[in-house]
Amino acid sequence: MIYKPPSKFAKIEESATLKAGEKAKELQDKGISIWKLDVGEPDFNTPEPIVRAAYEAIKKGMTHYSSTQGLPELRAEIARRSGNQASPSEVIITPGSKQALFYTFEAILDPGDEVIIIEPAWPSYKQMVQLSGGRPVTIDTGEDFQPVLDSVASSLTDRTKAILLNSPNNPTGAVFSESVIKGITDIAKDAKIWVISDEIYKDIIYEGHHVSVTSFLSYDDGLILIDGFSKSYAMTGWRLGYAVAPKPVISQMVKMQGHIATCPAPFTQVGALEGLKSCGGQVREMVAEFARRRAYIISRLRANDIPFMEPKGAFYFFIDLSGRIKDGMEPSEFLLERAHVSTTPGGAFGEKYKGFVRLSYASSMKTIEDGLDSIFKATA
Ligand SMILES: Cc1ncc(COP(=O)(O)O)c(C=O)c1O
Repeated sequence: MIYKPPSKFAKIEESATLKAGEKAKELQDKGISIWKLDVGEPDFNTPEPIVRAAYEAIKKGMTHYSSTQGLPELRAEIARRSGNQASPSEVIITPGSKQALFYTFEAILDPGDEVIIIEPAWPSYKQMVQLSGGRPVTIDTGEDFQPVLDSVASSLTDRTKAILLNSPNNPTGAVFSESVIKGITDIAKDAKIWVISDEIYKDIIYEGHHVSVTSFLSYDDGLILIDGFSKSYAMTGWRLGYAVAPKPVISQMVKMQGHIATCPAPFTQVGALEGLKSCGGQVREMVAEFARRRAYIISRLRANDIPFMEPKGAFYFFIDLSGRIKDGMEPSEFLLERAHVSTTPGGAFGEKYKGFVRLSYASSMKTIEDGLDSIFKATA
């Protein structure tokens, strides 16, 4: 049988962020030491109370299928924290926020509908929109990687269905200003399009404060909020995320989840609920450690005359290395081959950013110190 993938896969690329990690792993498997500054995965263990709560839940027998929409107690806690007096019926818990995003596109897009994506942007948005039959329309950011309101307004067409916002941002670490967020929600309200706001890095802030889109837009006026437990609670492997959206949208997502996943594992949800209720202190400790690493990287980049924007949130630096790479190699490939440091290629976040790399500082301080030494030596 000759396999020919359906046409919707023609433009689908592998996850660049995961691929970078896999390339590094291949080299590691050959016995080569690699400093891994690629994947956006906190190096901390999941806080103990979360682990204990999940373990107790397993011991009590919460090992069966459970509510498709997610445990009511967890949905109630999320609703309470998600602004605009959201109700638990407007929340769906999913196996990772990636799945919440995919359900979102499936639930709102007809073939050919457009979604505005502001670049640099996390690569999976574009791929998911395409998988759902939509058309990603990319626009650029301006100074300090802030969205530009005029570009948003001029990218609207009669096929625009939604705009995606991600603040704090992956890969730039930019935290979008209040005026930008308000401006975009005003444009979206006037145009009657959805705002999909991915706020998964909202707890990881170093300067200024996180402005949630929920401050300016109600769910009924077109807000779909995406969030999850991977980053703030060091729970990447637990696969737990959620969407908050108007009930008719959530109903479609619940139908989909019923067919595709049945439900997220119930004991992971018990762990997450414990996290929300009792692990604020541990989250702050992890953020303080990220802040220490961030300050160290800032000082090293400055000392080595590498231009960069100081990230205000998340745990990434997005750095232009085009001037430092000699033989025309793509910077991330160069760093892997010549410095044995694994980063994510900037081109994955937007065509224009091929000269950039994303450095994740969710790795240990020692890896960061040695990795930077090696980068500066190779690019000197
Ligand atoms: C901006 C953004 N959104 C969503 C996700 C997905 O997170 P998860 O599926 O682990 O909840 C990631 C992960 O890297 C991310 O960076």
